[in-house]
Amino acid sequence: MTKDPLHTRLCDMLGIEYPIIAFTHCKDVAVSVINSGAFAVLGEAMHTPEEIAADISWIRERVDGRPFGVDLVLPASVPAEASLDQLMTKIPQEQRDYEQMIKRKYDVPDPKEGVDLHQWGGLNQALGRAQLEVLLDERVPVIASGLGSPAFLLDAAHERGIKVFGLVGKTRQAKRQLEAGVDVIIAQGYDAAGHTGAMGTFSIVADVAAIAGDTPIIAAGGVTTGRHLAAALCLGASGVWTGTLWLACRESDVDMIVKEKLLAATADDTSYSTCISGMTMRVLKCPWTEEWAKPEAPPVLPPPYQMLLSSDYIQGSNDHRRGDLMTEAAGQGVGFVTEMKPARQIVFDMVEEALTAFEEITGDPDDE
Ligand SMILES: Cc1cc2nc3c(=O)[nH]c(=O)nc-3n(C[C@H](O)[C@H](O)[C@H](O)COP(=O)(O)O)c2cc1C
Repeated sequence: MTKDPLHTRLCDMLGIEYPIIAFTHCKDVAVSVINSGAFAVLGEAMHTPEEIAADISWIRERVDGRPFGVDLVLPASVPAEASLDQLMTKIPQEQRDYEQMIKRKYDVPDPKEGVDLHQWGGLNQALGRAQLEVLLDERVPVIASGLGSPAFLLDAAHERGIKVFGLVGKTRQAKRQLEAGVDVIIAQGYDAAGHTGAMGTFSIVADVAAIAGDTPIIAAGGVTTGRHLAAALCLGASGVWTGTLWLACRESDVDMIVKEKLLAATADDTSYSTCISGMTMRVLKCPWTEEWAKPEAPPVLPPPYQMLLSSDYIQGSNDHRRGDLMTEAAGQGVGFVTEMKPARQIVFDMVEEALTAFEEITGDPDDE
């Protein structure tokens, strides 16, 4: 092979060595990935503007000028200003009763300090705007939007030399974002952890790559090995965007109980449902997902109400480290996450495995 198949236009655009992007909430994971020659995007949707600014400085101090990104969620419909109490009053009694039944049945403990999921940019317009201001002021190299079109921030970002990535689950969303001039499209399939659409990764990546022209496409959803990376490049992607892969790595701050669950899990242990947030989401199966999948369960509420309803269960389980109740977003590639490796090792293993896959396909020129 004359050209390095892993050196893609995404590598040139970002100035990175390997076309692997880690989505992570953990700064230590981000720094290890960045310093290994790949790219990391830090999920900051749950953080205050002050925390985001501090995290950006923390990363900058450790990556020697290498680029990185920050991800926010910018959903189209967010309630304007409303207190948590006001939102809670809109939850119907039928769903409240079902939540209470689950709590009693599994003896779910109350959260230690209450829950305020309203402190999330995705649920609070004013906070979302303030979070974005920090990213623009800090001129982070990349702003990614995991939910909602980032088209409205393109001018402000480009004026500051910031690249904008948009994550899509449907071809028509990709088309709109491409027309708006989004710099990179992440085409994410059904296999993915977290909020994700109904189209399979294989289908959406090829579909979006076919209409993307010169705009780089990144494949997401179920990517946990070098073979997935090689396949994504063959489908027309310029790189991969990965989440599940990093949750159980050494540096990750995910609770050890959840790490062990992830290391033991296979695709069958994940559930695709709306019962956590009101939007389709893939997570590890747990009593909450199992109960809402039953025919007698009431209808799931639209966002943000279902999230407010599930938040007590999730926070209570986490606060009290109840392994029988805890869940985490996890994609269908979780079956390949079987060892607690350092993040750097994960990058290098993925690169080596992808190169081997390409060699197997094209044949080693030395053998000819
Ligand atoms: C624990 C966890 C939390 C996530 N939270 C977010 C988030 O806040 N914002 C976002 O854009 N994507 C989020 N995602 C989705 C990832 O960005 C990514 O699209 C997804 O993990 C890709 O699928 P994979 O896990 O199969 O690699 C999350 C993923 C995981 C595993």
